[in-house]
Amino acid sequence: PAGAVRPKLDEDPRALVPAAPDACTPQIRKGTAWGVATAAYQIEGAWNVSGRTPSVWDVYAHIPGKIKDGDTGDVACDHYHRYKEDFKLMKEMGVKHYRFSISWNRVLPGGGRGSAVNPAGVDFYNRLLDEMQANGITPAATMFHWDLPQSLHERYLGPLGDSEFVEDFANYADVLFKSFPRIKQWMTFNEPLITCDASYGVGKFAPGYKGGIPGIYKCAHNVLLSHGRVKQLSRTKYAHLDHKIGIALNVEWAEPMSNTTWDREAAQRSVDIQFGVYADPLFLGRYPELLKKKFGPSVMKDFTPEEADMVRGSADFLGINHYTSRFVRANEQPLGFVVSVFGRDSQPIGPVAQSSWLRVVPDGLYKITQYASKRYGNPEIWITENGVSAPNEAEMPVDHAVRDAFRTKYYSDYLDALCRSKRDGARITKYLAWSFMDNFEWLQGYSERFGVVHVDFKSGSLKRAVKDSGRFLSKHFFSVGAAD
Ligand code: NOJ
Repeated sequence: PAGAVRPKLDEDPRALVPAAPDACTPQIRKGTAWGVATAAYQIEGAWNVSGRTPSVWDVYAHIPGKIKDGDTGDVACDHYHRYKEDFKLMKEMGVKHYRFSISWNRVLPGGGRGSAVNPAGVDFYNRLLDEMQANGITPAATMFHWDLPQSLHERYLGPLGDSEFVEDFANYADVLFKSFPRIKQWMTFNEPLITCDASYGVGKFAPGYKGGIPGIYKCAHNVLLSHGRVKQLSRTKYAHLDHKIGIALNVEWAEPMSNTTWDREAAQRSVDIQFGVYADPLFLGRYPELLKKKFGPSVMKDFTPEEADMVRGSADFLGINHYTSRFVRANEQPLGFVVSVFGRDSQPIGPVAQSSWLRVVPDGLYKITQYASKRYGNPEIWITENGVSAPNEAEMPVDHAVRDAFRTKYYSDYLDALCRSKRDGARITKYLAWSFMDNFEWLQGYSERFGVVHVDFKSGSLKRAVKDSGRFLSKHFFSVGAAD
């Protein structure tokens, strides 16, 4: 009924809030920064207001047939207009850390060097930051979560336009550092593997460019150089701001199909291809040997000694987006491996989520964080995304969707794995659940829901309602975790 008061988070008698996972001792829960994550295009809406120009995703989503059910991010969660309500809800949930992304074309509608800053765009993010501050929430901002200004794409017409992109990205970062001195924690890129692979390799994601293998690695090279440049800018011109600069890399755990050397090496190749290609240059200063051999210098350009110096050590933390795992076995194909969700016994690696690519394999989080800790010299690790789309949730009425036992169990089991990994030495300081609320899931539109808060897209009211998974995280993690 109109005017009804929402019950307090811990007063919903139907909410099911299981105990904290065993490995997550009070000490670990207090000593870690827990929070939630989102991205601009997936939540903001307001795609054409106050000077914002289109990104490649605006253009792509408007092409009939590209996105499921013809969905777009035109309105999305309307966070642009409802941010006050959203931060109030985060506060009620005890959330103290929030990862969000900045829309490049809202802040710098012309995209490239020499173009004018949009005061209305800067003002919008300043209002968000004011609200975060007022609600005791520490911001961590992603510069680039896939939404390249369309004008830049039209200028480059290729995989992140060679050195042009590096200069344009550094200029954009400069604008951000200057405009938002309050933001101390930054991620340059979100899942560059997806940008390079899906957007510039196979061309399934916006802008739909089919550059094949050379496109993928040209893009990766430009991403790494851009990241290095931004870190350089931060430690010179903006040294007084004392930033933390990281990157969010996605990686699945690769479980060898058998214990043979063949399969173990194949699993390593799979991790190298997804993750090593970015993490090795950032932490070790070079591409994985195996890939260099495989593709040769025309595809995998070497860094010059100066470039290698700039890239190596340029990440203050290693951000990992982790959702799922795969079995990997060796074969005679060009890359020498195949991945599967089925093991040798034909058993699936884990229960399937709504997203066809997502199987629930909690131990993968333990294994990948242990692997990264060992390979890269025990760096500070942030889990920049982790979460799940619960089966059939988009079809459910609100009062069913919020009883998300599937997601609650996912979080409980993955967090148990995370706490075990911390106990065994991984330096995981921050964990961000994907996502704060249901949102635009790229090619799948609104049909796959990842939120710990439900958004009513069906009625169009866009009303927020905390799910049981949100209550679970709130009680054991958000409200007890470290403030910094
Ligand atoms: C990765 C991406 O960074 C995010 O945008 C996406 O919604 C989630 N994973 C779920 O697929």
